[in-house]
Amino acid sequence: MKPKILVSRALPETVEARLAYSFDATFNKTDAPMTAAVLCQAMRDYDALVPTVSDRIDAEVLLTHGRRVGMIANIGVGYSNIDTDIAREAGIRVSNTPDVLTDATADIALLLILAATRRSYAAETKLRQNRWGGFSIVDGLGSSIQGKILGIVGMGRIGRATARRAALGFGMNVVFYNRSSVDDLDFEATQLGSIDAVLSQADVVSIHVPGGSTPLVTAEHIAAMKPSAYLVNTARGDSIDQTALIDALSEGRIAGAGLDVFEAEPFVPDVLRELENVTLLPHIGSATTEVRTAMGMLAADNLEAFFAGKDLPCTVV
Ligand code: DGY
Repeated sequence: MKPKILVSRALPETVEARLAYSFDATFNKTDAPMTAAVLCQAMRDYDALVPTVSDRIDAEVLLTHGRRVGMIANIGVGYSNIDTDIAREAGIRVSNTPDVLTDATADIALLLILAATRRSYAAETKLRQNRWGGFSIVDGLGSSIQGKILGIVGMGRIGRATARRAALGFGMNVVFYNRSSVDDLDFEATQLGSIDAVLSQADVVSIHVPGGSTPLVTAEHIAAMKPSAYLVNTARGDSIDQTALIDALSEGRIAGAGLDVFEAEPFVPDVLRELENVTLLPHIGSATTEVRTAMGMLAADNLEAFFAGKDLPCTVV
């Protein structure tokens, strides 16, 4: 008998076809997010779950009485949606889908860096609202990024890909903070000793650290930024103190921001949606057909390895 798996959200057709071939798979044709109650029931009824980064797999779900699920194949490089400590204690394997989305996410970081510094949202809004009075030499000017300092917080895969594009493609000077020392970059970049040091020097800050219950980038860090600086976040909304960022933007203590992720998605505070100096995207870092297909296929690789008793290609737990 094929293992029974539940896929929490709609997937690209080719991925669903592969999963349907390999497993007794249940799909979510409506693509509506599943409730905690549905996920708890699924823990009893299936051998594996295939959730994604917006599904909260917490203690309540993981410790469901009468659990049958032995494997959670998360679709996403990030897995802060899963309580991995509890999963480990409960003996549930967890996998993720790294690497395949690195370039796409770095592309979105660059898109946001350019959008924020060139103030494209305000400019496009003016045009769409029929308020554009024609070409002007002095109106709506942004900032050039060539020769400016890009501060990367978290020099992992996506941080590196972003920094590389900015350094080699746009002539930015890169400084970065990373917990461990990094000495294998193929472009010039200077590692600094603290997040403060990076945020106080940078003209543009790009966040690439995982989310968690306590934001790594705090109100104090944001307060250290220059008034002319921009902040871009493509990691997780709770990687930074979102309230402190909103205050800094509203009070003009920093110049602008580009955000693809939010603290309590899909909720985005009104005040953020109203700010003209912020470009907002709905968590689309990896949203290309190619990448979402590759992520789904990697989750399928992880599941197949698990049920064949082999090492998982991408082990989290
Ligand atoms: C991830 O994979 O963690 C992204 O945030 C969604 O693609």
